[in-house]
Amino acid sequence: MKTRILIIGANGQLGTVLTHSLQQKYGVKHVIASDIVRKKSFKGLFEIIDATNFNALQSIVFKNKITQIYHLAAILSAKGEQDPLQTWELNMKTWLTVLEVARIHQIEKVFYPSSIAVFGASAKKNNTPNNAFLDPSTAYGISKAAGEQWANYYFTKYGLDVRSVRYPGIIGHQSLPGGGTTDYAISIFHKAVLKKPFICYLEKNTKLPMMYIQDAIRATIEIMEAPKDTIQERTSYNIAGISFSPLELYQQIIAVYPDFKTTYRPDFRQQIADTWPCSLDDQAARNDWGWKPQYDIKKMTRLMIDRLEKKYRLKTNI
Ligand code: SER
Repeated sequence: MKTRILIIGANGQLGTVLTHSLQQKYGVKHVIASDIVRKKSFKGLFEIIDATNFNALQSIVFKNKITQIYHLAAILSAKGEQDPLQTWELNMKTWLTVLEVARIHQIEKVFYPSSIAVFGASAKKNNTPNNAFLDPSTAYGISKAAGEQWANYYFTKYGLDVRSVRYPGIIGHQSLPGGGTTDYAISIFHKAVLKKPFICYLEKNTKLPMMYIQDAIRATIEIMEAPKDTIQERTSYNIAGISFSPLELYQQIIAVYPDFKTTYRPDFRQQIADTWPCSLDDQAARNDWGWKPQYDIKKMTRLMIDRLEKKYRLKTNI
């Protein structure tokens, strides 16, 4: 059967870049991007979908002969705390709708994005193991942890091939951050490139697991392409990239912009970050399907600055 991919939440930070990578890999005609609105700049096949609507999702899957689904739509950790019940409702409803449609339509593979937000106070802070006890501190984290269990349930009960990774904070230049606790690590680059001072909402020594977007996209595609029997964890896999604090990132940036200034004014996001790991043990992903990150903090900083400089220079030329 020919691979036909549906990406739900294609307008988001990961969705934008993943859609492009999958279009290149499988051909534009075999990738259907979807979200609640269509961006004017989008090139390719697109469906407007409200993924809480079972019938709408089902007819799009049927009409486009979809064989794989990447489900990326979610309300993230910081934004999610503004309305915890709405966050639970949206994150769970979309995920359960995707699982049911996938089961009924015998979808070959489904991708589920989990997060470091599944970990809470009980998990070991450094090198957090894959199977640490999960006691998430946010509505987002609770929904992601429950979602992992549903992934495992659909695999065990129905044989649905659901695969998942726990993303750390994702750093990319392609789009602006979307309501996460790790967003500072993107905003800081925009300020630095625009030669403006940065106010950081986390304390300078708060170390969190992070990852350059190209590594995150590669991890997503690699786990989806791995032979089925190599996927031993049917909840989710830790994947580690780079761990750093705001101060460590600042130190990398001032090597390029010596006049750049950052002040630290922690807000409610500090409490969220304090419950998350500093670094992850991703041995299971390395052993089972060969995961290995390629970007360190230096390489990531260089690329972010280079790409954003190009982006802003282009804009000022218009
Ligand atoms: N980047 C996400 C967040 O901060 C983590 O999954 O919410």
